[in-house]
Amino acid sequence: MLRFLTAGESHGPELVAIIEGLPAGLRISTELVERELARRQKGYGRGRRMQIEQDRIRWLSGIRHGYTLGSPVAFSITNRDWPHWEAIMSASPPEPADLEAAGKRRLACPRPGHADLAGGMKYGHRDLRNVLERASARETAARVAVGAIVRQLLAHFGVRIASLVVALGDVVAAPETYSQVDSSSGGTVGPLPISSWWQQVEESPVRCPDPDASQRMMAAIDRAREAGDTLGGVFQVVVEGLPPGLGSHVQWDRRLDARLAAAVMSIPAIKGVEVGIGFAAGSRPGSQVHDAIAFDPQRGVYRLTNRAGGLEGGMTNGEPLWLRAVMKPIATLMRPLPSVHIDTGESAAAAVERSDVCALPAAAVVGEAMVGWELARAWVEKFGGDSLAEMEQNVRNYKEALRRYIGVEWAD
Ligand SMILES: Cc1cc2nc3c(=O)[nH]c(=O)nc-3n(C[C@H](O)[C@H](O)[C@H](O)COP(=O)(O)O)c2cc1C
Repeated sequence: MLRFLTAGESHGPELVAIIEGLPAGLRISTELVERELARRQKGYGRGRRMQIEQDRIRWLSGIRHGYTLGSPVAFSITNRDWPHWEAIMSASPPEPADLEAAGKRRLACPRPGHADLAGGMKYGHRDLRNVLERASARETAARVAVGAIVRQLLAHFGVRIASLVVALGDVVAAPETYSQVDSSSGGTVGPLPISSWWQQVEESPVRCPDPDASQRMMAAIDRAREAGDTLGGVFQVVVEGLPPGLGSHVQWDRRLDARLAAAVMSIPAIKGVEVGIGFAAGSRPGSQVHDAIAFDPQRGVYRLTNRAGGLEGGMTNGEPLWLRAVMKPIATLMRPLPSVHIDTGESAAAAVERSDVCALPAAAVVGEAMVGWELARAWVEKFGGDSLAEMEQNVRNYKEALRRYIGVEWAD
């Protein structure tokens, strides 16, 4: 079983995470983990904090000379701004000067759309910073590092994960730039290969494969910033190289579509997930939704279309997996919405913290990490093994069984 936990406050000294269940003998590249951390920090519309941080990973356990040991992998990510926050966030009872500093950063007018008020009422905090500090999406840095570690396991077996921004505010990327579009209906029938849009997306400050839409998305962010407002949008995650049979139809909590949706919905500000054509399936007849099955001695079994998003019956079906998620606009507004002071109940503007105008490109990177995490979990469940060599043998056996399944041998 693969599992992880994170800890750390947004302005605390470190974020930490522990992953348990990785096989021994997996090569781990620190450079690849830090590259993913840097991808999360990029994106047009981010706040000043992203420039100070330049996240770095500090390994604490579970890896020796570049390889996993099979023991828990633990790491930390240092908050480079900690000296400015030490008095405010100190773990020990504060000195009078620290108390004054903490008082200045007290949050007492909850921000609509944040955990502030519900968390304050639930935990009895009079300083809503005690909620904000953990609810903040700073925690997703640790998740991206976890994702970057398990992606190295998946990549070892040829699995590739990528993401792109489909829509930001009311600007929509042209579907032809990243999807196969049916010429007669105009509907999406599946994703284009990652290799056809990946470079364009990585070079776009908003992770959009359509250069014209990229420009309009950045202009929309500029307008929102000037208005003291914020924007959200929709991103898509695509995964290639998955075998059929990850997840299972036999029990509700083993259905991979449900697990992936939960993993992606756990990202702060994600309000909906759709698998494949998702909600569009509700308005079409079955003949224009389901994906016909074909066989080719070179390819094996495959689908003529991939509207299902590579998942049927809660399992991968061997086609590329694709899903989308919607992110609500950032809840900290520079022109704040009305709120109340928790001491008096009097009307007051909601608190304002340093904040992003739009974090959709970063959320897409976090989406890759969470999808990678859930797939790695399903992978470990299916193929098991305490060492990578044992897992490799299990994967070979399964692929061999798949080749015999249709009753005709085909190339791998
Ligand atoms: C990568 C990323 C960065 C975020 N940055 C901010 C931010 O700078 N300011 C903010 O108010 N919310 C930000 N959010 C969103 C909040 O964390 C989120 O809306 C809040 O915790 C409430 O959770 P909920 O929206 O899921 O209910 C960000 C989310 C993500 C995924």
